[in-house]
Amino acid sequence: RVDHAIRPKRLADYIGQPRVREQLEIFIHAARARDESLDHTLVFGPPGLGKTTLANIIAAEMGVNLTSTSGPVLERAGDLAAMLTNLKSGDVLFIDEIHRLSPVVEEILYPAMEDFQLDIVIGEGPAARSIKLDLPPFTLVGATTRAGRLTSPLRDRFGIVQRLEFYAIDELTEIVSRSARLLGVETDEAGAREVARRSRGTPRIANRLLRRVRDFAEVRAEGQITAEVADQALNMLHVDHHGLDHMDRRLLLAMIEKFDGGPVGVDSLSAAISEERDTIEDVIEPYLIQQGLMMRTARGRVVTRQAWHHFGIAPNERAIDTD
Ligand code: ADE
Repeated sequence: RVDHAIRPKRLADYIGQPRVREQLEIFIHAARARDESLDHTLVFGPPGLGKTTLANIIAAEMGVNLTSTSGPVLERAGDLAAMLTNLKSGDVLFIDEIHRLSPVVEEILYPAMEDFQLDIVIGEGPAARSIKLDLPPFTLVGATTRAGRLTSPLRDRFGIVQRLEFYAIDELTEIVSRSARLLGVETDEAGAREVARRSRGTPRIANRLLRRVRDFAEVRAEGQITAEVADQALNMLHVDHHGLDHMDRRLLLAMIEKFDGGPVGVDSLSAAISEERDTIEDVIEPYLIQQGLMMRTARGRVVTRQAWHHFGIAPNERAIDTD
């Protein structure tokens, strides 16, 4: 995989998320002009929208090194302490899935973020000692699917908070065209747009589908990605015309067929389709909600009239319209 080669490295190459780009440009520029480290930055949003990419871009724009880790990997306080003490002045420490830090590791993070102080206890029992170390100023970039998953003391320690949104089709078309160029695949505008339209608003999915459509094009269509070739390849991959994948359809169909369109609690849905509740909440439903195919209500999830129509099923009288 050459993910590496197509990931944008600078803010100027980053397509979409205009508000995020504008704000980061200002904050980075200001921090650099003052010769300070950038404030700690929390990036949140559904998977695949570019949180890791942004962390890398922040480090590149600040002209510093980036060290990467993730919440579940940091099991003990010492794991984080080791990473913090290896940082150089201004460096970026990227913690993916930061909502999954254990409480003891999170405790270490508070003084580190606030005062660039490492406060750890070494040893146990009567021999235990507490030591304090000064850390170099650094920038913590944390990523999570939903900001609400962080404890509030952790969330409060981020000076910059950015929410990533699903990409518009025009933006994704631009991303697919750029990736195709970097991969050396011939793609016309309509071909790129067809891949974009069916990528759930998500660059990671667009780039993955592009690779599979390229395979199809090379074997079945002399390597050229047109709208027709993309359509055939995506149908073969069971990505429907709305860009919904197998899991999306399973969720919506379960709501319609087993729960008469809802309202249904997320735990009942989780049991009905054998998917983790977190996967439903963080991965599957955000796009379906954004597309107006389902809604969260106080009494549970409901599918909208559009979802019934999507499957060619006559909606019941309770079905809501979001248009
Ligand atoms: N590749 C993946 N995400 C991208 C983005 N936001 N801009 C440009 N290329 C990308």
